[in-house]
Amino acid sequence: MKCQKDKFQIDKSIHYLNCAYKAPLLKKGEKAILNAILKERNPYLYKPKDFFESSEMARALFAEMINAKSSQIALFPSTSYGFATALNNVKARYKKAVTIENEFPSGYFALDKWSREHQASLITVKKEARTAKLWNEAILNSIDKKTDVVLMSMNHWMDGTKIDIKSIGDKCHQLGVTFIVDATQLAGAFPVNVVDLKVDVLICAGYKWLFGPYSMAIGYFSPKFSDGIPIEESWMNRTNAIEFSKITEYDSTYKPDSSRYNVGQTSNFLLTPILIEGLKQIQKWGVQQIHNYCFTLFSVIKNGLSPIGVRFEENNYVYPHLFSLKLPDGISSEALKTTLEKNKIYVSLRGSYIRVSLNVFNNKNDIDALINCIQKKLG
Ligand SMILES: Cc1ncc(COP(=O)(O)O)c(C=O)c1O
Repeated sequence: MKCQKDKFQIDKSIHYLNCAYKAPLLKKGEKAILNAILKERNPYLYKPKDFFESSEMARALFAEMINAKSSQIALFPSTSYGFATALNNVKARYKKAVTIENEFPSGYFALDKWSREHQASLITVKKEARTAKLWNEAILNSIDKKTDVVLMSMNHWMDGTKIDIKSIGDKCHQLGVTFIVDATQLAGAFPVNVVDLKVDVLICAGYKWLFGPYSMAIGYFSPKFSDGIPIEESWMNRTNAIEFSKITEYDSTYKPDSSRYNVGQTSNFLLTPILIEGLKQIQKWGVQQIHNYCFTLFSVIKNGLSPIGVRFEENNYVYPHLFSLKLPDGISSEALKTTLEKNKIYVSLRGSYIRVSLNVFNNKNDIDALINCIQKKLG
């Protein structure tokens, strides 16, 4: 795959190494929302099917990406909504929940609330001075047959550390523990197969690696959740919803599987078209190809910065699309970020880490700019 910058309007004079913060808008997404705005001029253009078809298309595209059925996918305004929905359906039999240190707040607070409501203990597995390998072992060891639920990101959003989701999924499945993952920083940039990974719920924000809009998130629910209770009762999630004249015949049946978890006003006429364009484009590129492309750029960064003392996570625990630079002692990450920005290079500071994230709109030029600037700063 070659660089895909021409599919975006991103300012050509900057080096945007921060897709983990927010993806730039695809040209196709821009066109889609502009068309959607124009349609708003004439509401008679909306037919009953339009209230359902676009959201169903987004669900089908995401389902294909993660090896699920579209009926197992639901749309929400944020990941916090998805986590609340999932945890609303988790019973506290043993009163134990597990998460990891510095889990993203939307997942953490949902689990914290669940734990307080059920007088359960919430175990947070800390990384501390551990290597990624030892941290992963500690996470695995913290899960036992007295655990109700495990919630964590598939890769750490602050520094990119890879979490061994496959082993955790296997263990949770074996012990009957509910396994909820946050795929926000992984799905779209690395192949994810919910069946192989044995996750029960996967929640993902739309505005990063899916090239969707802000205020849309998407989630998968395994058959374990097919009879659950949604956190609100939208008319749209009932089987008779398409027949507008009959919706006060109050249908007690939900649409199948996780359709019941879709947020009200699921159609989101202006934003859904952006998500659809993002998902279609990813399908066209291929997630594996996106990953391979990022790997090539990541290798250039690693080879350029390792000799001057910048350290990276060990190979088995790093993804090439999102990783952190561990700077030599005495070098301030804040000062470095300021210098990078002065040179129009955009990354994130998360804790004490410089977080770099790459996607197909990045090119060798962006990478060279990053390497040269850090080389100068480190002398
Ligand atoms: C891992 C992770 N989860 C979730 C989110 C977004 O959460 P929400 O959709 O609840 O705003 C982010 C945003 O940076 C994130 O990095």
